[in-house]
Amino acid sequence: MSTKVLIIGACGQIGTELTAKLRATYGRENVIASDIRKMDSTVVTEGIFEVVNALDYNQIENLIEKYEITDVYLMAALLSATAEKNPAFAWDLNMNSLFHVLNLAKAGKIKKIFWPSSIAVFGPTTPRDNTPQYTIMEPSTVYGISKQSGERWCEYYNKQYGVDVRSIRYPGLISWTTPPGGGTTDYAVDIYYKALSDKKYTCFLSENTALPMMYMDDAIKATISIMQAPAENIKVRSSYNLSAISFTPKEIAESIKKHIPEFAIDYAPDFRQAIADSWPASIDDSVARKDWGWQHDFDMERMTSVMLENLAKK
Ligand code: SER
Repeated sequence: MSTKVLIIGACGQIGTELTAKLRATYGRENVIASDIRKMDSTVVTEGIFEVVNALDYNQIENLIEKYEITDVYLMAALLSATAEKNPAFAWDLNMNSLFHVLNLAKAGKIKKIFWPSSIAVFGPTTPRDNTPQYTIMEPSTVYGISKQSGERWCEYYNKQYGVDVRSIRYPGLISWTTPPGGGTTDYAVDIYYKALSDKKYTCFLSENTALPMMYMDDAIKATISIMQAPAENIKVRSSYNLSAISFTPKEIAESIKKHIPEFAIDYAPDFRQAIADSWPASIDDSVARKDWGWQHDFDMERMTSVMLENLAKK
């Protein structure tokens, strides 16, 4: 059976680039992008697009039947900072959308699920440096609690019902195509926009707050590669640690100054500082590297060059 893909939440920061890559990989006619509304985006204009509410089981089921979908990528979620402002809705969206696709797979209607987890599954009691795959996990944010619970349910559905669900714990993702939507790591995208437009940036995290980060091309590569790996290679059915680079606001500012010498940064930490302080500074992803051959391509300097070059054109 050939692969037919449904992406839920296709117009977001990850969804936009994932949709383009999946269309290039499987052919436009085999990729159905969906989101809660039609947006002004290549996701809508360059292929099949459907409006779908990730909380509506029947709508998702109808799309799966209509297009004979085999693989679902569930990218709809509220991120860490937004979730703190609306905990009940974050829990509802992040958990129930996952249950819908897990139950559709359990019912035999789809073959494979990709569901993103996050470094937010870790918490203040987790070892902060080179955080291992298996360690203490006591997340203190609503977002982290939803991702940690989701991981447990993914593993449960795999063990109990044989559901082929695959997941990675994304670090902060940096990209220029579509802005991020309400995360704690968003500063590492905003800073490039402001460096070009204002030559200065006020950061909502303090200068020495190190967090795990990744350029979007690497994240998309990881996503498609874990989905294409043979099922027996995917030994972790909760979620894989995934890592590329780790830096502080001060370090990313230094890398921007190499291109824009007059760039200046100052710091005004807000409520997101406490979220960042509860997360790892760096991640050990050796299990993903061993099980399905993960490796990253972008370091910070390369990422900075690509970001500034593309945003300047934009
Ligand atoms: N980038 C996300 C956030 O900051 C982490 O998964 O919420």
